[in-house]
Amino acid sequence: MKNIDSITHLRGESIYLDDIPLLQGTLFAAAFPSPMAHGVIKQLDLSEAERMPGVVRIFTHKDIPGINQIGGIVPDEPLLAEGHVDFCGMPVALVVAESRDAARAAVKKIKIDIDPRPVVTDPREAQANDQLIVPPRTFRLGDTSAAWQQCTHIFQGRADTNGQEHLYIETQGAYAIPQENNALKIYSSTQGPTAVQRAVSKVTGLPMHQLDIDTIRLGGGFGGKEDQANTWAALCALAAYLLKRPVKYSLHRMEDMAMTGKRHPYSSDFKIGLDNDLKIIAYEATFYQNAGAAADLSPAVLERTLFHCTNSYFIPHVRATAYSCRTHLPPNTAFRGFGGPQGMFVIEAAIAKAAEALGIDASVIQQKNLTKTGDEFPYGQKAESEAHACWENAEQLYALASIRDEQSAYNKANKLLKKGLAVMPVCFGISFTKTLMNQARALVHVYTDGSVAVSTGAVEMGQGVNTKMLQVAAQVFSIPPHRVKIQSTSTYRIANTSPSAASATADLNGKAVSMACTEIVQRLKAVAAEEWQVQPGAVELKEECVYINGTKTDWDWNRLVMTAYVKRVSLSEHAHYATPEINFDASKEKGHPFAYHVYGTAIVETTVDCLRGTYTTDAVKVVHDFGSSMNPAIDRGQIEGGIVQGIGWMTMEEVIYDKEGRLRSNALSTYKVPDIYSVPNEIAIQFLRPTVNDNLAIFRSKAVGEPPLMYGIGVYFALRNAIKAFNPGAEIPFDAPMTPEKLLMALYTKGNPAKHEQTVNHLATHP
Ligand code: MTE
Ligand code: HPA
Ligand code: MOS
Repeated sequence: MKNIDSITHLRGESIYLDDIPLLQGTLFAAAFPSPMAHGVIKQLDLSEAERMPGVVRIFTHKDIPGINQIGGIVPDEPLLAEGHVDFCGMPVALVVAESRDAARAAVKKIKIDIDPRPVVTDPREAQANDQLIVPPRTFRLGDTSAAWQQCTHIFQGRADTNGQEHLYIETQGAYAIPQENNALKIYSSTQGPTAVQRAVSKVTGLPMHQLDIDTIRLGGGFGGKEDQANTWAALCALAAYLLKRPVKYSLHRMEDMAMTGKRHPYSSDFKIGLDNDLKIIAYEATFYQNAGAAADLSPAVLERTLFHCTNSYFIPHVRATAYSCRTHLPPNTAFRGFGGPQGMFVIEAAIAKAAEALGIDASVIQQKNLTKTGDEFPYGQKAESEAHACWENAEQLYALASIRDEQSAYNKANKLLKKGLAVMPVCFGISFTKTLMNQARALVHVYTDGSVAVSTGAVEMGQGVNTKMLQVAAQVFSIPPHRVKIQSTSTYRIANTSPSAASATADLNGKAVSMACTEIVQRLKAVAAEEWQVQPGAVELKEECVYINGTKTDWDWNRLVMTAYVKRVSLSEHAHYATPEINFDASKEKGHPFAYHVYGTAIVETTVDCLRGTYTTDAVKVVHDFGSSMNPAIDRGQIEGGIVQGIGWMTMEEVIYDKEGRLRSNALSTYKVPDIYSVPNEIAIQFLRPTVNDNLAIFRSKAVGEPPLMYGIGVYFALRNAIKAFNPGAEIPFDAPMTPEKLLMALYTKGNPAKHEQTVNHLATHP
């Protein structure tokens, strides 16, 4: 089935925040951002700004009737700066004016006097200064300190990954409209309507039942609107509540880039030990997460880095420690993969380091160490592994050996063009790592004309979740899709939602929809059973018709629904789903946090132009474990988009802050994102044949949203291999992204192949 939004998208008729018709009297807001990353506010002079034409009011923290606090996990984030500023772009004041231009012009007239304080942008420096968001976490399996003795080869090194701008096409924004008796209706471009509702409640002091947060769809979220939509909604709500007029704020792209957080940059140390047979015996990693100036979701992101620090591999002895480091950057936040990609990059770097030193292909080490069913992850859960199935399917289907042969022949024949290959296995845990968040609700109404309306906590952000929800209802009722409508996501219809995140939106909300629809079907069957004087088990609903004992009757869906109504049988249901079995004990760092894992393997081929330092991704060939995909077209789209977004993170997107904490890559002229030319020449996607076991997702499908991003990591390592084909002695730091500039330097660095200064115990080279 096609994405239900495809026609309105194509015709430009889909409604995003900025398309909502404005009410008369609507005012426009703009935030005044701190020009400095750290300092004490000595004076804030609003007088000139207040005299600007069209300005209605300028709000500061003093105007907040509730509390000046929007921190979700840790209460460390004021909505408006109070006394000091902690990052460049931190909202200090909010101008509200008759037009957007008037609001922005007035922002420029605000004067601030800040007594500067030292700015820290490096997470290792923050950690050395004891500036941690939360205490460090350590995951352990076996005993690494004893295990090094069993290792023939030990390597250590450092691996860094940079941030990533979400660059959702629709920028952040909100539109708050006062209702009677102080209630507020807030349209918000958010992945988490309940998160917005809580933040607005804290700031305004209004109870949550006064706040209807309504979300039609997002022009992309990618994690950037899981928590950080709260700010803009809370600012609009504050102004609308105090002025009793509708207030809208839709951010300019440069405001959005400068004021919101991004994917967390990480700097990490690793140590890996292998035995004679290239089995990884021990692995230690230390992660320094650049959290920015406030916690936001950083502690949860940090945790997922640890969960995925061994990617698809079974390693018997692991010790991984992670620090969430407070710096003076905008608070970094969720981004597709949620810390997982950062953890996986480091283990892949460790394997690459070992392979390069031993003069073998990394894939030899990778394949030997893939998890098998029953293997234990460092956090205690046992794998139900498809890692080998994906790898071996990919190897055969895409003829890995002949790709390798063709590449080496090509590299022999070409002096200035070199090809590089990498295989990237991925294993990603599905469920919010915070167990309590794994719950969802659905509200289903069947109207007397037989049409159906479904509300859930799921937010459509381009990932196709609304289409999947519609498919669930249509399938359980056995009616055609056009008879079902998915309503906007509203906190008045569905309460206490988890954000649409963790790739689990369809799983959780789909289960709730299925439960609600099934309950209504039971009631309808009872109505038919009474009419035909049979047991309800003899009744079947099929393609809008009622069947009794397998025989079609002259009752259709509409007649059944109407009869139920006449008999005063409820045609509505609200259902609640909570993922069973999952648990995690953070005091022991052990448990069964994930309902299941998603597996996949990508074979990545690249070509480097060794004169220019430019490169292309020739192919990304994937075998991916979709379970029984509910919608192969949508799921393919998720894989393709994820791969390209991953390639962007790994090869070109470079978030640059200067030493003063100012964002230098603050527009699309200085921040390069993938375009049509960066897309791999070929993306091949093979569905792994689904296994029979119930994986706890809806209709035995598997979550698909985040895992494919991590195939992009393979491109980084394929590029390294191409560089090595040109300059075998090149010493290339593990420092993503591999931009053309860095790649060009690496091609022509004079490396010393004999020197492996970080190799501590390199006893023997593998035959
Ligand atoms: N796809 C599109 N088109 N737009 C998005 O914003 N977000 C990604 C992924 N795919 C996103 C997307 C992220 S970060 C997540 S967690 C999942 O979709 C969320 O949706 P799901 O839980 O329905 O997979
Ligand atoms: N993934 C994504 N988003 C989240 C998670 C998670 O595990 N936990 C809280 N928000
Ligand atoms: Mo996705 S990073 O869990 O919104």
